[in-house]
Amino acid sequence: MQTKIKQITPETLSEAKTIILDGGVVAIPTETVYGLGGNAFDDEAVKRIFEVKGRPNDNPLIAHVHSDFDLKKIIDYDPPYAKKLREAFLPGPLTLVYPSTGKVSPYVSCGLNTLAVRVPSHTGAQAFLRKVDIPIVAPSANLSKHVSPTSAAHVFEDFNGKIPLILDGGECVGGIESTVCDVTGEIPVVLRPGLITREMIAAIVGDCKEYIPDFTKKEKVKSPGVLYKHYSPRCQTKLFDCKDVERAVQTAKAQNGVRVAALCETFFVSKFEKIGLPCLNLGETETEMAGNLYRLLREAEKICDILIVVEPRKKDGVMEGVLNRLRKACASVDIEH
Ligand code: TXA
Ligand code: MG
Repeated sequence: MQTKIKQITPETLSEAKTIILDGGVVAIPTETVYGLGGNAFDDEAVKRIFEVKGRPNDNPLIAHVHSDFDLKKIIDYDPPYAKKLREAFLPGPLTLVYPSTGKVSPYVSCGLNTLAVRVPSHTGAQAFLRKVDIPIVAPSANLSKHVSPTSAAHVFEDFNGKIPLILDGGECVGGIESTVCDVTGEIPVVLRPGLITREMIAAIVGDCKEYIPDFTKKEKVKSPGVLYKHYSPRCQTKLFDCKDVERAVQTAKAQNGVRVAALCETFFVSKFEKIGLPCLNLGETETEMAGNLYRLLREAEKICDILIVVEPRKKDGVMEGVLNRLRKACASVDIEH
């Protein structure tokens, strides 16, 4: 199969719709990362997405809809506080997990009785979702465990020859995936941190908890995606706390006969440049760092065998999401569950 990258036009939207209604998969831009889209009502299309990504079959997918889609078609119960969150943040990088009507394919939520729904703000994504006017499941358009894609070229790297069409909507501005927030209980619970922070959610509805899976109790994990080694570049990684930056520099110096590079916030760049090491600069602000993270991890795997990573100093707010991705990208093994 030949994979085409096409700008979003009325003609390419029609082409994408035909592929989707035919049970196929199309890569689409969003404001966070690119997604691998398929018809949420079509069992075969949903199965195809798991297959083409190599995704574990216990990790549920997010259904994407346009701003005027009638949620009652797919969700069973809508707590009043969820409406406030939608009004405050949607369309945008916040995914809400509701009790499901069970109308979409059972493969979407992998047997859970909930459904994650997202309304992306990217104009190309909205145009595509309006054109098809059905919920589109779309995991990040990367091979399972690999770094998420923030450009059409990244999607092409992972899926050339495996999908027919990538709709090119430019570089993603957000850079890390949406915040996933469970709204099935009395107060919202963040399952995956992102650009919409717990503090921002609590400011609208009064309270918001963070979900911390208890691996010792073998409880059924609420958001299976939190378990895996994820977002990882195809080079070895060594992660250091910001307090250990000198140790990171020494470790970089001690490597022999391999290509070494560093990844850190602007503040630490000169420490690595001083020893003549290529240094990928995450940036200064939290939004800059979120926006640059995946692009730089993909760049790293091309230029080095060992990547020395120094965690940024700021840990809260949007950085919670950035650190969550960075730590998983540098995890050496899958966490058993
Ligand atoms: O920004 C995003 O959310 C991107 C773009 C393409 O929209 N999509 C994305 O999808 O990140 P994916 O499949 O890579 O991640 C979906 C996350 C996983 O952590 C999954 O476990 C969680 O959402 N999830 C999906 N359905 C769920 C459900 N019913 N209950 C709990 N967690 C769910
Ligand atoms: Mg993903």
